[in-house]
Amino acid sequence: MSLSLLSRRFCSSSAKPKTGILMLNMGGPANVGEVNMFLTRLFQDRDLIPLGPFQKYLGPLIAKRRTPEIQKKYSEIGGGSPIRMWTEKQGEAMVKMLDQISPQSAPHKYYIGFRYVDPLVEDSIVEMEKDGIERAIAFTQYPQYSCSTTGSNLNAVYRHYLSLCKKPEDDPFSMASKLKWSVIDRWPTHPKLVRAFADSVRECLEEFDEDKRDEVVILFSAHSLPTSVAFRGDTYPAEVAATVMAVMNDIKFSNHYRLVWQSKVGPQTWLGPQTDEAIEGLAKLGKKNIMLVPIAFVNDHIETLHELDIEYMEELGEKLDVNIKRAKTLNDRPVFLEALAEIVKEHVETGYNHTKQLTVRCPNCVNPTCAAMRKFFIPSY
Ligand code: FES
Repeated sequence: MSLSLLSRRFCSSSAKPKTGILMLNMGGPANVGEVNMFLTRLFQDRDLIPLGPFQKYLGPLIAKRRTPEIQKKYSEIGGGSPIRMWTEKQGEAMVKMLDQISPQSAPHKYYIGFRYVDPLVEDSIVEMEKDGIERAIAFTQYPQYSCSTTGSNLNAVYRHYLSLCKKPEDDPFSMASKLKWSVIDRWPTHPKLVRAFADSVRECLEEFDEDKRDEVVILFSAHSLPTSVAFRGDTYPAEVAATVMAVMNDIKFSNHYRLVWQSKVGPQTWLGPQTDEAIEGLAKLGKKNIMLVPIAFVNDHIETLHELDIEYMEELGEKLDVNIKRAKTLNDRPVFLEALAEIVKEHVETGYNHTKQLTVRCPNCVNPTCAAMRKFFIPSY
């Protein structure tokens, strides 16, 4: 892709940016035509789903088989994922606020680094280098760290620089030219993230009949993980639980609640209970008022708009005769936009290049890239 094309894809302040913020996420297909490419990249990502030595060939085959079903789901939510639209809105608001509250790192410019669709992490780094920014911040848009999500994105940054090495002895870190990289690798209990979720829960509670509000069961629903990943020592389950507890604390534990897991695929064992099984179980216990809260996604996408809204809220709710409502995703909620800007400001002010958690790999990690990526971002590693 040419650089002139790339530069039109990004929002920029008029002044030459000093600090670039790379907003990392998996991305989603903008239209049904992109679904196969999205799935192919996803199933070829060894950091997300290790499929053995033939992954390069197996990935596209699995993607091809799953494409029609996923295309149908995207058609049912309007034809594409809104994740890029929301990320652009968030990025624009974030840099505008940052220019006000963090003059020492201004002007700021945001870049989008998606893992499986445009704008890809690698293309955005090229753009950052071209812009001649001084400081680059890799800012994960997953509040809770998993090696499968944030880890995969950070590995992509490292691999980009590795691909620039001409000789085996070249150091990818020195390939980062003049850019000073740092990472915001997790923020599961940032006060404004918690407040944004808590406000969304409170608003949704208001939608239930007053005499039923007390008995509403709140199901915090997060994307599940294979238990093999959790057993490696992945920090995601604990960090998701930390967000849940902080939100419940904010609403003063006013209701029953559970942390449940959605979007399991394939025959492996995944973290449970699954969201739909939990709804069915609660219905059997006579719980007829349930609130779903997407707790690990900050943007609407297929897992909220299709899985939660259509499959569970509408179809399952009707089948079980249960009143299910969903708390709104954070999207462009003002306090959430403030959270994004404040997280970057605090990162700049503290001078830490990463959290302490990033410095230790999963106790049962078998992926050598996890170590190489850390050497890239953590010079003392
Ligand atoms: Fe977690 Fe490698 S899998 S650090």
